[in-house]
Amino acid sequence: MALATQSAVAELKCFSAVCGARYAITEVMYNCPRCGALLEAAYTSERPAAEALKRTFRERRLSNAPLDQSGVWRYREMFPFLDDYRHVVTLREGNTPLLDAPLAAAYGALDRLTFKHQGFNPTGSFKDNGMTCGVAQARRLGMKRVACVSTGNTSASMAAYAAAAGLEALIFLPHGNISFGKLSQGIEYGAKTLQVEANFDQILALVRVLTEKLGIYLLNSVNPFRIEGQKSIMFEMLDQRDWRVPDWVVLPGGNLGNVSAFGKALREAREAGLIATLPRLAVVQAEGSAPFYDFVNSGAREFHAVANPETLATAIRIGDPVSWPKALYEIRASEGLVEKVSEQEIADAKAQIGRCGIGCEPASAATLAGIRKLTSRGVMAKGADVVAVLTGNVLKDPDYIYKYHSGQLKTPTGEKIESTYGNASIIVPNDAEKIAELLK
Ligand code: F0G
Repeated sequence: MALATQSAVAELKCFSAVCGARYAITEVMYNCPRCGALLEAAYTSERPAAEALKRTFRERRLSNAPLDQSGVWRYREMFPFLDDYRHVVTLREGNTPLLDAPLAAAYGALDRLTFKHQGFNPTGSFKDNGMTCGVAQARRLGMKRVACVSTGNTSASMAAYAAAAGLEALIFLPHGNISFGKLSQGIEYGAKTLQVEANFDQILALVRVLTEKLGIYLLNSVNPFRIEGQKSIMFEMLDQRDWRVPDWVVLPGGNLGNVSAFGKALREAREAGLIATLPRLAVVQAEGSAPFYDFVNSGAREFHAVANPETLATAIRIGDPVSWPKALYEIRASEGLVEKVSEQEIADAKAQIGRCGIGCEPASAATLAGIRKLTSRGVMAKGADVVAVLTGNVLKDPDYIYKYHSGQLKTPTGEKIESTYGNASIIVPNDAEKIAELLK
């Protein structure tokens, strides 16, 4: 079931409209050597007609071929950067559900709300969508070692895909600020895990020096192939909705790779004739780590990093997001916006998502907290068609859950987080009568 994309010409293109330099798709680079801006994958080939593409995507769901079973590679005509699909290692990533959540909708003051739950991925987060592409490119380039700095999910994903591909994985983590669930995944998948006494932004600078020096392939989201893979989250969401475009797509923002990928995907889907309009993108940040919120909403001319980002949603504890220029472009192109939410708002929204029988990790719950704020401010209409992307699985950070529900959760500055929707575990004696009394 292959459509003719072999003639596709893929290049790396400088994201700066002023520079726009182009480089071979096989160059190992993450920023434009001429101007320093981010790079992106660009294609000059003709795509098959939209109706043929939609039919092919749908037919592949019946196929047993690994490439077709992947919820990423199923959409490969939309990111034809490889010349040989034998480089691909798939763990059947993607294939994540759209879940209706009436309880969460009510909490967010919406008539209806759908979650696209990326926590159903093989390593439990959306990073798998991009990692299968990044690792395929690493193999194509003949790389032996791959590395990343991570707040946890990127590293868990990279470790799994590197292991499956026979590559050596080096993971750099902010010591003390990564959930045990995520760290243990990296360890279990056989990666070398280095915990550095610094924050994400500082370690990224360190890793960029080391990868350059040692010839290691960098798999952070500055890697344009990660972004190409994450585009599939939007293609799959649209395919699952029979290409009906929602009014809004809401997602949490950290390093801002995901919003960059979503925006590119949606614009390219429109160019390919798969959809006619764009949804508005709404990025939600945690108050203590909200440089993009500040930048977009203050109208400042320069981007200011947050030097000491803080949030219990450690996945998005990032003060100097590398992809902000791409994210800004996509927010503008989609007439989107950026919101921020407090620790208490994240914690309560997360408990509500749990009560739907769905659950997610703290960063993901910023979406529902953001929706609640946007509807209360009248920015998002009650009747709007909203898809919120839950980025990580509920089991990624069990410590947080236990502390919230037992009233022990504190903000990074030590203030108590109210256990508004608490569900504390009860300790009972081994005594049927006493337990029966309790359960009356
Ligand atoms: N949600 C989760 C669960 C994440 O792990 C991340 C990022 C984000 C949201 C934010 O996405 O960076 O594309 O804006 N985690 C990265 C990591 C930074 O290292 O795992 P973003």
